Amino acid sequence: MENLWLIGMMGSGKSTVGRRIAATMDREFVDADSMVEERAGKSIASVVEEQGEAAFREMESAEIRRLAGESPSGAAGRVIATGGGVVLDPAGVEAMRRSGVVAWLDAPAGVLAGRIRGEDRPLLAGAEVASRLAEILAGRHSLYTQAAHYRIDADRPVDRVVSELAGCARIAVDDGSEVLIGPGLPHRVLPASSGREQAAIICQPGSRPVAESVRELLGSGAGATLVEVPDREEAKSIETLAGLYDRLADLNLGRHDTIVGVGGGAVTDLAGFVAATWLRGIESVLVPTTLLGAIDASIGGKTGINVMGKNLVGSFWHPSRVVISLDVLSRLPEPLLLEGSAEAVKAGFIADPELVELLIKHGPAFPMADVVRRAVVVKAEVVSEDFRETGRRAILNFGHTLGHGIEVVCGLPHGLAVAVGMVAAAAISADRLGFDEARVRVPLERLGLPTRIDTATPDAVLRLVQRDKKRTASGIRMVLLREIGDPVVEYVDEAALRLGLAAVGITG
Ligand SMILES: NC(=O)c1ccc[n+]([C@@H]2O[C@H](COP(=O)([O-])OP(=O)(O)OC[C@H]3O[C@@H](n4cnc5c(N)ncnc54)[C@H](O)[C@@H]3O)[C@@H](O)[C@H]2O)c1
Ligand SMILES: [Zn+2]
Repeated sequence: MENLWLIGMMGSGKSTVGRRIAATMDREFVDADSMVEERAGKSIASVVEEQGEAAFREMESAEIRRLAGESPSGAAGRVIATGGGVVLDPAGVEAMRRSGVVAWLDAPAGVLAGRIRGEDRPLLAGAEVASRLAEILAGRHSLYTQAAHYRIDADRPVDRVVSELAGCARIAVDDGSEVLIGPGLPHRVLPASSGREQAAIICQPGSRPVAESVRELLGSGAGATLVEVPDREEAKSIETLAGLYDRLADLNLGRHDTIVGVGGGAVTDLAGFVAATWLRGIESVLVPTTLLGAIDASIGGKTGINVMGKNLVGSFWHPSRVVISLDVLSRLPEPLLLEGSAEAVKAGFIADPELVELLIKHGPAFPMADVVRRAVVVKAEVVSEDFRETGRRAILNFGHTLGHGIEVVCGLPHGLAVAVGMVAAAAISADRLGFDEARVRVPLERLGLPTRIDTATPDAVLRLVQRDKKRTASGIRMVLLREIGDPVVEYVDEAALRLGLAAVGITG
């Protein structure tokens, strides 16, 4: 996990809030100003008085860049409170944004003035506090806006601010993409580097309200156009794709413009493919609005449409940014949450035992922020290691070999079929590797996911599975578990597959 940087005016509560977040999340807290004082051997007030403000700014910038460049011990990044003027230094801002998520604690000048005593603050000495603060805030407003990924309203009880901030994260994927996770949408949806003049926002019926918020954030007018495509898999048809190309041509969408895909996996797959192919490739930003989209489909750069078969035409095309709003995910209808939770627990099974524990502990009422962050980290790490699906990426298919067959034969939603498929894979793992099958079944039951189904015959499922492209003379490649978090890819024969299917009620 990367750093959480807190920026904002003096009095916005960066240190109080930062300490609380660090304690809640078991992360190290650092106050950048105190580090500067420690290094200088005197207070900031003395530095400013004796050496001038420019000297202090220089020391502060060096400190920020040092903190940004260090990786602290342990997996979690630090929570770092910064001085109010940190945004005056472009190099420091760049370093913060690259090493984590930057949150701006924003409050009106009157509120800030009420919280501080002017005499302690060198830059306020002698001035009438509220009006001086208002002046400084006005001068820095656009700098805070540009520096921050998220603006957080700090004029609220500390608990509220802490709980919103605790969900903020930025996860870098090795392809140059960044995944931003926040309480809502970031105030700037497109990366700062984006030189776009126009954006085409692609959405589906269920994601339209979020797409409208995105359009508002991008600014009204001709610059951002909403294009709604048909729901679910119809979005990924060649007809929809052709219609979309027509719209882009009408819009005159150019090489420096951006495709923004707002929706479930169907939309992000389609939008990614359109971005990959329009003018031989333009920038894309994905805003997944389903849990499955957020933790799976939008991460890793696979795009595609359905021609003849599902996802048969596609391309690897990496979005410059993926934006995940926890608020949107928390309000999802139950069936979509349930489906997504199967992919979340899968991420835990293959690479994060603590994620599995978290899901067992909370069941369907799991803490969205933690679960999404952990599942995204798993997918980001696996795909970062292996962009072309040559090796490690295969472990993401845990539960999918038989799951896909069950999905088609039983007409079960993807996530539910994968849940059953994971139990079957766990049973084969038990037989071959001595794995305790209950360690997969119990968390799935706890989440309310199916672990058995009796509306299929083994022959029907096997016919589909054996058509699978991964079949070779030695059998079918399948992901098995030696332990939770310890997957192996092995060849399994038909007898093993039948054993797995029997374990989930598919016998005959
Ligand atoms: N590229 C990849 O690596 C990858 C990985 C996994 C899955 N996928 C693809 O993802 C697709 C499945 O994704 P999905 O399950 O998100 O399905 P989906 O995109 O079809 O969306 C499911 C439903 O949710 C609705 N919806 C979307 N956002 C909503 C919201 N905020 N509130 C209420 N309803 C909302 C949609 O309108 C739709 O009816 C498949 O096409 C699959 O092939 C791709
Ligand atoms: Zn899946």
